Amino acid sequence: MHHFQYKNNELYCETVRVADVARAVGTPLYLYSRRTLRRHFRAFDGAFDGVRHLTCFSVKSNPNLAVLNLFAREGGGMDIVSGGELYRALRAGVDPGKIVFSGVGKGAQDMADALAAGILMFNVESVQELRKLNDIAGAAGKTAPVALRVNPDVDPGTHPYISTGLRENKFGIDIREAMEHYAAAAGMDHLRVAGVSCHIGSQLTEVSPFVAALRKVKDLVRRLEERGIPVEYLDLGGGLGITYDRETPPHPKAYAEAIAGEMGGSGPTLILEPGRVIAGNAGILVTEVLYTKVSNDKTFVIVDAGMNDLMRPSLYNSYHAIEPVRKSRRGTVVADVVGPICESGDFFAKARELYAFEPGDLAAIMSAGAYGFSMASNYNSRPRACEVMVDGDRFEVIRERETREDLVRGERIPGFPAD
Ligand code: LLP
Repeated sequence: MHHFQYKNNELYCETVRVADVARAVGTPLYLYSRRTLRRHFRAFDGAFDGVRHLTCFSVKSNPNLAVLNLFAREGGGMDIVSGGELYRALRAGVDPGKIVFSGVGKGAQDMADALAAGILMFNVESVQELRKLNDIAGAAGKTAPVALRVNPDVDPGTHPYISTGLRENKFGIDIREAMEHYAAAAGMDHLRVAGVSCHIGSQLTEVSPFVAALRKVKDLVRRLEERGIPVEYLDLGGGLGITYDRETPPHPKAYAEAIAGEMGGSGPTLILEPGRVIAGNAGILVTEVLYTKVSNDKTFVIVDAGMNDLMRPSLYNSYHAIEPVRKSRRGTVVADVVGPICESGDFFAKARELYAFEPGDLAAIMSAGAYGFSMASNYNSRPRACEVMVDGDRFEVIRERETREDLVRGERIPGFPAD
């Protein structure tokens, strides 16, 4: 359930008219509903009430400080994958003791910063990374808490670019080789084994792959404990899907029930790293229609947002509903919705039956709250959009639209001798 609804043919975010926000700040703009974010966080976190757990929001899905701060205040932790995300989480007021650091290529400085901050756990993905972390911790006079991210070889049945738990993926350590890696970690002076982690993919619409992965990880936990390596945390990653179109993902309650059922009453504390399921349907991208054009019997709706603002359709051919911000009785048309970028891949919809948009209309690209702004770029030298958060009948800019000055920040014309 989200708070983007029509009243009298006008799209509202909570009780704010989307058109009013667009008039105030311009387009394109990302618009988030704070109440939806909070509701989704509580629904997810609350679904695990019966088991000892920590919900670590996946920062990469929506890293805005206002969003992170909201979840920090709800008692959430964070799943980070870079020093930049660590910086954001700390700036947003997140308790460092609730931060887990994932990622296949952590740099030395990022590791040192996370150690200094006192994070909960490093999810390590290779023996070389274990050694590097051990050296860095030794130099800092600290002990680094580690989990190994294991690859359970489970097919999540999702888009190949966002599936991570298959043996052929670059992620994690083959679960069949995990014991020897754990033995190595346990033997390193400046590491402390704290947990086991896995993440099998994103936008999963079934519970069964999670359960299959959990069973394999639980078996590993049992074998580790038999070997005298106690496991405090079991991190199951993120990945629960949302409805973009007609998908019917399980409700967090059903997901939690299946997982809690497997976990039983005792055992390690469960860590979850949801991103999309919390933020995805809590945000939209609002764009203005610039032109419509018909060529070779095809209709194009050209909008002022581009693939630099929301790249999911270009990258994954993913579906986002596109709705009018103001509905009239105009009927529908089959059209491609495209942006201003000089690439044929710059599209939001292809051959889709849509409201018959006309120039000057506002369109809402739905389900853009996760992996929307966070994957935006400046391609074609387009300043990144602003981000706005609504709470009830109020709205606030939570990230200003970039300026042209921002576009060239840090660039220099060198003073080489003339040719
Ligand atoms: N934990 C780890 C270790 C991850 O790699 C990810 C996502 C998550 C948690 C959060 O997954 P979620 O709950 O959001 O599914 N850009 C793609 C999604 C990439 C996901 C990468 N990892 C998209 O737009 O669909």
